[in-house]
Amino acid sequence: MSTRPRGLGILRDARGSEDVLPGSGRFGKNTLPFIILTVCVDATMITDARVLQQEFIPREVQHRDSEVNYLSSILEPVTEGNTTEPTLLYGPSGAGKTCIAQFIVEELRGSVVDLNTQYVNCWEDYTRFKTLYQLLDGIGQTYDIHRQSTPRDLLVDRLREYNDTPYVVILDEVDQLQDKDLLYDLCRMRDLTLILIANREEELFSPLDERLHSRLRNANRVHFTQYGNDEIASILRDRARWGLAENAINPTGLQQIADRAAGDARVAIGILRKAARTANREGYSRIHSDVIGDVVLEAKLEIEREVIDRLTPHQKTLYNIITDAEEIAPPALYEQYSNTVNEPKTERTVRNYLAKLEHYNLIVADGNTKARIYRARS
Ligand SMILES: Nc1ncnc2c1ncn2[C@@H]1O[C@H](COP(=O)(O)OP(=O)(O)OP(=O)(O)O)[C@@H](O)[C@H]1O
Ligand SMILES: [Mg+2]
Repeated sequence: MSTRPRGLGILRDARGSEDVLPGSGRFGKNTLPFIILTVCVDATMITDARVLQQEFIPREVQHRDSEVNYLSSILEPVTEGNTTEPTLLYGPSGAGKTCIAQFIVEELRGSVVDLNTQYVNCWEDYTRFKTLYQLLDGIGQTYDIHRQSTPRDLLVDRLREYNDTPYVVILDEVDQLQDKDLLYDLCRMRDLTLILIANREEELFSPLDERLHSRLRNANRVHFTQYGNDEIASILRDRARWGLAENAINPTGLQQIADRAAGDARVAIGILRKAARTANREGYSRIHSDVIGDVVLEAKLEIEREVIDRLTPHQKTLYNIITDAEEIAPPALYEQYSNTVNEPKTERTVRNYLAKLEHYNLIVADGNTKARIYRARS
């Protein structure tokens, strides 16, 4: 079943018919590349390449009714110009955390006139400066900020002084924020409504981060579980309906992709995209089962490469050490890492990085904490 958020949906109709466009996205500044992409593909089978992109934000989402309704009830005060306690979304990869958070914020933007919003991916903008810069950018306050010369505190002070219209901020991959004190500062800002996304709550703060811990004690929590194969198949059905020619893929094909995606919607959409491109290139009018079988491995490798590209330099060093060694224990890994980089991070931070690599299936950790061994997955 598709979901419209309860409450926020009332004003949604003011935007006009939603049948016109199946989805939007963070495409404000990215519209052009997507248009070029659409034009470049031989459009016999792919009618709208945008909907096969991971970043695409659908106007209707599947199978997340309770999460969507809970989140929209949490954000209800924003529709009246107020803020609300931070909300923490967590769960496995490809479970729809980023998609649902962006979908809800888009809904909010459709129903609240005076509202500022910003999406920050803390894996990309992981330094204090970059995160703050993005947050100030969302309220148009970066005109005189320079990386070299602006005092660090000025950024946080300026954000603290903000008390205009409600400001809703998504901090995605927030466990990758280098400076957890910043999160503490942000949680104390009364005029910010924070939506925090992480894979596991444990990685967001250590037991030692007592201040942050107590600050987030009252946070709303939304746990996303992995999708079942049938749920993945119906998410794919929508994408096929919006982005491919009619009958380009049949229900058996969608189920075949879902079965290979193991509950990860990102992998499923990646396989569909690759299969559609391949079938298109070969001049087929349909995506046959053997095409799907042929592209699964390649699609998964493509996603893996995208994740590797997103790694920070320190994470990449750790990944390279693990792939070069057949298997490696944490003390040897940390020693090799410390000898390779300037200013090595603490063991705790390194553990956090390794959890991220494991989460994204780049490495495997065998054994319990005391006898742990890391191996590369492929
Ligand atoms: N309920 C849904 N309805 C429609 N599309 C979905 C849904 N859930 C996920 N998707 C799509 O699946 C892909 C992966 O979802 P998303 O990026 O939200 O996963 P995630 O939980 O944030 O994973 P990660 O932890 O790896 O960042 C996206 O392209 C998203 O648009
Ligand atoms: Mg995500």
